[in-house]
Amino acid sequence: MDRFIDKSAPGAIATGKGTYHIETWGCQMNVHDSEKLAGSLERQGYIRAGGPDGADLILLNTCSIREKASEKVFSELGRLRKLKRTNPNLILGVCGCVGQQEGEEIFRRAPYVDLVIGPRSTASLPALMERVRNGETDVTLRVDTEYRRDSIDFPYEDIRREGQAGGKAFVTIIEGCNHRCTFCIVPRTRGKEVCRELDDILNEVRSLADRRILEVEFLGQTVNAFRDSAGNGLPELLTATAAVDGIRRIRFTTSHPAQMTPRLIDAMAAAGPKVVPFLHLPVQSGSSSVLKDMRRGYDRETYLAKVAAVRDRIPGICLGTDIIVGFPTESDADFRETLSLMSAVRFHSCYSFTYSPRPGTASEAFHDRVDLGEKQARLRELQALQKDIQEQLHAPWVGRTVEVLVEGPSKNDPSRLTGRTPESRIVNFTGRAEIGRITSILVESASAYALAGRKIGDEA
Ligand code: SAH
Ligand code: F3S
Repeated sequence: MDRFIDKSAPGAIATGKGTYHIETWGCQMNVHDSEKLAGSLERQGYIRAGGPDGADLILLNTCSIREKASEKVFSELGRLRKLKRTNPNLILGVCGCVGQQEGEEIFRRAPYVDLVIGPRSTASLPALMERVRNGETDVTLRVDTEYRRDSIDFPYEDIRREGQAGGKAFVTIIEGCNHRCTFCIVPRTRGKEVCRELDDILNEVRSLADRRILEVEFLGQTVNAFRDSAGNGLPELLTATAAVDGIRRIRFTTSHPAQMTPRLIDAMAAAGPKVVPFLHLPVQSGSSSVLKDMRRGYDRETYLAKVAAVRDRIPGICLGTDIIVGFPTESDADFRETLSLMSAVRFHSCYSFTYSPRPGTASEAFHDRVDLGEKQARLRELQALQKDIQEQLHAPWVGRTVEVLVEGPSKNDPSRLTGRTPESRIVNFTGRAEIGRITSILVESASAYALAGRKIGDEA
């Protein structure tokens, strides 16, 4: 599974006044931003279209984490332009990180675009659409890329819950990032950290539980930096959420290793099995000198010590990570250290990327000593190692009974259903089960990427 997906929202048949279509690139935060945008549009009376053709409003919710994102957006805009010819009333908008980064430049390169919104301005969509409908031509009025608080305080009860049918929901708890990793564009596109209030989050969680949501996933670029105005952090939030009736699973992503404190690890352990035994802890590199150049705020030894502390307090916990290969200062020896860290930790999942320089980041100015062919060779070697590790880690699951939250039909074989274990393992299975419920599956086979089995017993 690619964490960075290219997903067009599936749709119902359009009826009624106006129809919309949203295309989403990027991470969970972007997927969730699209849910917020969809909720806002439905409040305005828009109905989801089955695709871009015939829609009255098309939004591209974009991601700029890696190269060519902007170019991909402009080429997609070029493709959608022809729809404007057949439907002159079509409103075309660019949201998300490319909107933030390019701003008014989008109107210059693609003058047929109607509005541009940054990822922290989703709440201003209705106002911007009003301007477009009123025929405003001043582009500065049709772009909103301010960093402001209200986008995170978007009224939750109005948010459309795409994941609801699957029994799980995302909940943003912190926006932006105060770190300054030299390769990363996120602080430029999503701004400084802003946190929600614990009570506000808990109200949202309770309302989700009332709607039969079993699993919540707290979201933030550095989710473990969460701290509200009363000083409550992620430990307090996990403890309080575990006490909400009906919530069976609590996830949070993404944690920064430097902020993986003993208090947080203790709270995870104390909250019991409701806090799932899975932790995504991006390491980026196994070499202390590269980590220093990346300005990650920890070295190899500190990272390994955090992993040991987590495993000590929560035995059996599965770990996931992100790795960048081919950082400008990464030598072959540095890369070997990354491989050795992977062999030492044995991650259950790993999203790996070749380094791509991003405009305005500190590492853009570094002399890039790794050529593209070398970067790609390193990526292949790393992914082959990770595949072996995952195969070895999955094999002992065969014969075990696992609890799976049923998500829907399996993509590769729609005759089977798919879901996830608390450890975030994908399980494809035979037998009938209700989507959005938790059911017991006997694991019969395993590959590097997923488990397969059959349903036993009833849903709980
Ligand atoms: N804090 C967020 C970071 C978002 S970026 C999180 O951990 O999810 C997600 C991942 O993309 C990063 O962990 C990193 O591995 C990768 N990434 C970010 N910038 C990159 C770049 N310039 N080149 C290649 N990969 C990058
Ligand atoms: Fe990016 Fe580093 Fe923040 S990867 S999102 S600057 S923690």
